[in-house]
Amino acid sequence: MDSSSMKVNEKRLRKDLEDLGKFGEEPGGGILRLALSDADLMARDWFKGRMRDAGFQVREDAVANIIGRLDPVFGETGAPCIATGSHMDAVLHGGKFDGAAGLCCSLEAIRAIQESGLSIPCPLELIVFTDEEGGHYAGTFGSRAMFGLLVEDEIYKSRGTGRPFLAQSLERIGKDPAHFGKAVRSPSEFRAFLELHIEQGPVLDSLGIPVGVVEGIVAIDRHMIEVAGKAGHAGTTPMRLRDDALVKAAGIVTAFNRTVRCLGAGIMGTIGEMKVYPGAFNIIPGKVEMTLDLRSMRPSLLKTARKRIKDLVRSTPGARLETALSKNGSRMDRKIMNLIEESCRQRGISWKRMGSGAGHDAMTFPAQGIPAGMIFIPCKEGKSHCPEESIRWKDAAVGAQILADTIVRIAHGFDDEKAQRPRGEERKR
Ligand code: GLV
Ligand code: MN
Ligand code: MN
Repeated sequence: MDSSSMKVNEKRLRKDLEDLGKFGEEPGGGILRLALSDADLMARDWFKGRMRDAGFQVREDAVANIIGRLDPVFGETGAPCIATGSHMDAVLHGGKFDGAAGLCCSLEAIRAIQESGLSIPCPLELIVFTDEEGGHYAGTFGSRAMFGLLVEDEIYKSRGTGRPFLAQSLERIGKDPAHFGKAVRSPSEFRAFLELHIEQGPVLDSLGIPVGVVEGIVAIDRHMIEVAGKAGHAGTTPMRLRDDALVKAAGIVTAFNRTVRCLGAGIMGTIGEMKVYPGAFNIIPGKVEMTLDLRSMRPSLLKTARKRIKDLVRSTPGARLETALSKNGSRMDRKIMNLIEESCRQRGISWKRMGSGAGHDAMTFPAQGIPAGMIFIPCKEGKSHCPEESIRWKDAAVGAQILADTIVRIAHGFDDEKAQRPRGEERKR
């Protein structure tokens, strides 16, 4: 299949990215667009409109994943689809391209395929996954819900006192949270899943390479830690009689950091959020809540770190740990990696194979037996999860072009027997 005449429209892609970046925009240049917040809901409506303009049938599932579908003009409507997608939500005071780049590039890639007149013999889907970042709880919520992988009661939990949880946010948009199971789909509905994303690290930008071909995604553990102490008067309670929750939490933070550093460069550990209660100049902290994120490509390292942090919490009076999520690492499909590289070769684009230290919805697919692939594009100086996150428009266009070419290649040249391998078999090979 010769797709060389197919061309994405950089100007149109740039306009979409700029328009999407306005929802939740903050004065410092970043965005505040937590999942299902007002800004997110407005962005979602806008994106649904852009998908409809491109001819997609658009629906929302029970957990608010947005699913745009294009059935083939010639071909089988009920055949497994090639899906692309990413997320619309952002971290607190984050950047405009994490997730958004994948959505806009996917839309542009599919528009380019349509305009080229090339026929795709299977359905195409563009999916906007709900709460990838974990603004509510553990993250990759929408993609895990799609395959029945939610942790028990997770939609009724939140990351801290007073924060809305997903069930409340779903109710706010007219969904019955008890029906989250209706979002589950069969892996056999998918022929492949592709996600384009900014690299979120400095490698591609520093080497001047426009495309990263992702080989695998880190395993991620997310834990919630609560440390209980005794609130009291800051002026009248002698130091020796205090049970200060924050002082105990600080001990956990520093010991955890030391523990992870001792395990070497192959593992990252972050305590990124801490809430002190009740929180005042003149009250001894009575309770602290904090989040702990642990990730590695190496399961044995993760296991060791997990055990050490659990021991550390157990040995701190009043502290307890709850695991929000323990997600295995995942390998991207070899055949898809080859097709991405073939697309780069044909266009004279250089690429680099690399791992992903960031989590993505794509990591949910391989364990379902669905071949998945990821294309990274550079972000300036590798900055991400901060307002300074930025990209070059031309890199986005190159990424969208390679994504379009890869979709066409999968549609016309993919090994169907493998693409339809039943759930679980991927791991046995
Ligand atoms: C998502 O961006 C993550 O890696 O936490
Ligand atoms: Mn992110
Ligand atoms: Mn992301």
